Amino acid sequence: MRIPHSKPFLPPDEDYAALIREIRENGWLTNHGPLVQRFEKEAAEFLGVPRISFLSSGTSGLQCALRTLPRGGEIITTPFSYVATAGTVYWEGFTPVFADIDPNTLCLCPEKAEEKFTPNTRAVLATHVYGLPADTRALGALARDRGVPVMYDAAHCFGVKTNGKSLLAEGDISILSTHATKVFHTANGGMAVCANPEDQDRIDRFRNFGHDGPNRFDGPGINAKNSEFHAALGLAMLPYAGEILDRRRAQWKRYADLLGDVPGIRILSIPENTEHNGAYFPLLGLSPERAGKIIDALAAAGIEARRYFSPSLNKIDYMKGDACPISEAAADSVFCLPLYHTLSADSQEEIAERVRKLI
Ligand SMILES: Cc1ncc(COP(=O)(O)O)c(C=O)c1O
Repeated sequence: MRIPHSKPFLPPDEDYAALIREIRENGWLTNHGPLVQRFEKEAAEFLGVPRISFLSSGTSGLQCALRTLPRGGEIITTPFSYVATAGTVYWEGFTPVFADIDPNTLCLCPEKAEEKFTPNTRAVLATHVYGLPADTRALGALARDRGVPVMYDAAHCFGVKTNGKSLLAEGDISILSTHATKVFHTANGGMAVCANPEDQDRIDRFRNFGHDGPNRFDGPGINAKNSEFHAALGLAMLPYAGEILDRRRAQWKRYADLLGDVPGIRILSIPENTEHNGAYFPLLGLSPERAGKIIDALAAAGIEARRYFSPSLNKIDYMKGDACPISEAAADSVFCLPLYHTLSADSQEEIAERVRKLI
């Protein structure tokens, strides 16, 4: 038996093939074609946001979001995220300034972030870790008081709602990933959602070389567009998105029921006002040595548990980050259990039983 950490959902061949035929008939493969336009409209409706910009990846989305800021300076960000978050801050020529995380949510701690403000701070960039919300109220108030925008790496947040509203609507700009490992994917891809239509328009221009008309440019840009083929996959996936989310939430609950009483491990709690998407099932609270042994023992049984996120980003040499003990401790011990649409209840029970015995 081999149980991978994640397995992408794929829509029925005939649904995808019908859209590929449309691409062939249109003879339009990329550059904001009809399927990208349709996908942007339908995805925005599904997610409950006014507009999205479909992009080549979550990372190119972060690049475009950061380009809405004046160049250079510092960005206060989280050490507990995938490397794309702070790595893009660095890549775009800003200094990532790490503030430690809240031990309960594992998201950027607003009080710690406040301590890191300097006259050079240009923005706050937090991650909604595992698709569960950062403290958007406190971070929003902090950024507003200091006159800088707050942006969210919402890579994991497809379909997540807080108080009945899309989590992507929080902050000035949110970036979602539709990479193959995500709950909803387009093989590769990302989406930007902006509070302000002018920022959304700017991102639409950044993703298309800065074009402001066929022969006009209002500034620089890159090629961060996504293709008709990726949009076709997204369109073929959308009718199944509700079912995927329901199933992931049920699978998440099954793991929580099976493992919630195991002494020594901690499971993240879902805030009451949050409709989550079951993106990941992390186990916390073990020592790094025990976590490592469990990951190895699961691997020997063909079960892929993934250290995610690791390392704490402040520990990556080129980032030159200050110590963030809470994030470092979490990154050294956390691991996520397999979770994907077709993972059976029997497999979940077997995985949970092995984890219980190993602990
Ligand atoms: C938290 C986080 N941010 C950003 C990214 C980057 O997204 P993409 O792979 O679409 O560039 C990922 C992807 O794994 C992620 O997990």
